[in-house]
Amino acid sequence: METDDRIIIFDTTLRDGEQAPGCSMTLEEKVRVAAQLERLKVDVIEAGFPIASPGDFESVREVGRAVTAPIVAGLARCIDADIDRAGEALQDARNARIHVFLATSRIHREHKLKKGPAEIIELAIRGVRRALQYQKDVEFSPEDASRTEMQFLKDVVEAVIDAGATTINIPDTVGYAVPSQFAEVIAFLKSEVSNIDRAVVSVHCHDDLGMAVGNSLAAVKAGARQVECTVNGLGERAGNCSMEEVVMALATRRDYFGASTGIDTRQIMATSRLVSSVTGVAVPPNKAIVGRNAFAHESGIHQDGVLKQKSTYEIMRPEDVGLDQGRLVLGKHSGRHAFRTRLEELGISLGDEQLQRAFEQFKRLADKKKDIYDEDIEALVREETEVVPEVFRLVDFHTTSGPSVTPTATVTVEVSGEGVKTDAAIGDGPIDAVYRAVDRITGLTCELRDYGLHAITGGKDAMGEVVLEVAANGFTEHGRAARTDIIEASAVAYLSAVNRLVMRMRNGTTPKEKPRGM
Ligand code: KIV
Ligand code: ZN
Repeated sequence: METDDRIIIFDTTLRDGEQAPGCSMTLEEKVRVAAQLERLKVDVIEAGFPIASPGDFESVREVGRAVTAPIVAGLARCIDADIDRAGEALQDARNARIHVFLATSRIHREHKLKKGPAEIIELAIRGVRRALQYQKDVEFSPEDASRTEMQFLKDVVEAVIDAGATTINIPDTVGYAVPSQFAEVIAFLKSEVSNIDRAVVSVHCHDDLGMAVGNSLAAVKAGARQVECTVNGLGERAGNCSMEEVVMALATRRDYFGASTGIDTRQIMATSRLVSSVTGVAVPPNKAIVGRNAFAHESGIHQDGVLKQKSTYEIMRPEDVGLDQGRLVLGKHSGRHAFRTRLEELGISLGDEQLQRAFEQFKRLADKKKDIYDEDIEALVREETEVVPEVFRLVDFHTTSGPSVTPTATVTVEVSGEGVKTDAAIGDGPIDAVYRAVDRITGLTCELRDYGLHAITGGKDAMGEVVLEVAANGFTEHGRAARTDIIEASAVAYLSAVNRLVMRMRNGTTPKEKPRGM
């Protein structure tokens, strides 16, 4: 019999996660991430802030239409226009929630909102009541709660529950709290707010002091029953509470927390890789749970212990987070059927055309690489499911470099509607030379802001994955590509970022702006 308390996992990767600089996703990418979050079995997906931009409105609407089981939430300030827009965006969602927020701390009241405590309570009540006209599931967040006077926080929370809020979310907006103190805030609200049993108590922690997960877990121990988090801990500044860390801490230390989630933890790695891929934000190798080294035992003493008995040094099994390490999946002789079956097992569904292209890529890879693993397949598929129109496509390149020659590149690119163009350039190294030649073809002078290269699997024949960020004309975009040839990967990743830039320029989308007052 299930005796644990059930913790609701509220994922805000598509809203708070996307607020991180350089992390914007296209609509199709958001829908793809939402579908994966549904496979992961999160309870709530916060899909955006509908008033913030037409793109955010559309993403809340489309995610609401795309997913079936999770509740889809849209964010709104306690302003009529915000709430109406959120209500409209959520019209078609099967299960919807409006999440209204208003800052309550003295600092925010006096300097940002210029409103007194009574007016704040009044606005919060009005906001909740207006949201209830659209949805019966309404969450209220007193922004900067962790720096709000406890007595005032209690008054606000009591008032919004009376007004009908069904979830009360306590944000540590600036990542200021420490676990024992944050737990006291939750315990205080649980014991002092007279109507607290009419709402679910939630927490939303930022990681400015590296304590977002610790604070969230302390809050669970004190009675919180919803945790707001993001995949890979993505989010503004230092990020949000990491979904994978909080979920695995609850699962691994069930003895201590007496709580469980509905998450299918075997989907964690696939979700992490997808989010990293669409945002262009690489996961640090030592990141808990999803980092490349999270389950790698380097020290001889540890390896010896693990070989004798896994539990000596392993508190979680890699397979529980979907990491089937070192598992040979497919090879040169695997056919289309085996390829499709493995994709299905990985929870990836492709249309016929995409499947055909991915299979051709797989065959090309199998000619160069002996053993092909899940990570390789996911990297191939990531490119095939790239939704950005290919205005520029790499056809061929040739480079020369060496200690005593000037690095030179000749690059051939197919330009949509204009045919094939070739140009050449010299550079600091072969990759720089390739980028300069590409710029001559595209006519865009891009600034390379960031460039990272890592091997997807072990072995000398491993694919190198390049993740980079480029900027031009006030826009910043990322690109990613994996190949056994790292110069080719660098060129394709660069062109992928350029294609994204071109799409944004053509759509006339301005770099994302947030409404005033956030
Ligand atoms: O950090 C924060 O306070 C927020 C709220 C909108 C919940 O993101
Ligand atoms: Zn936040």
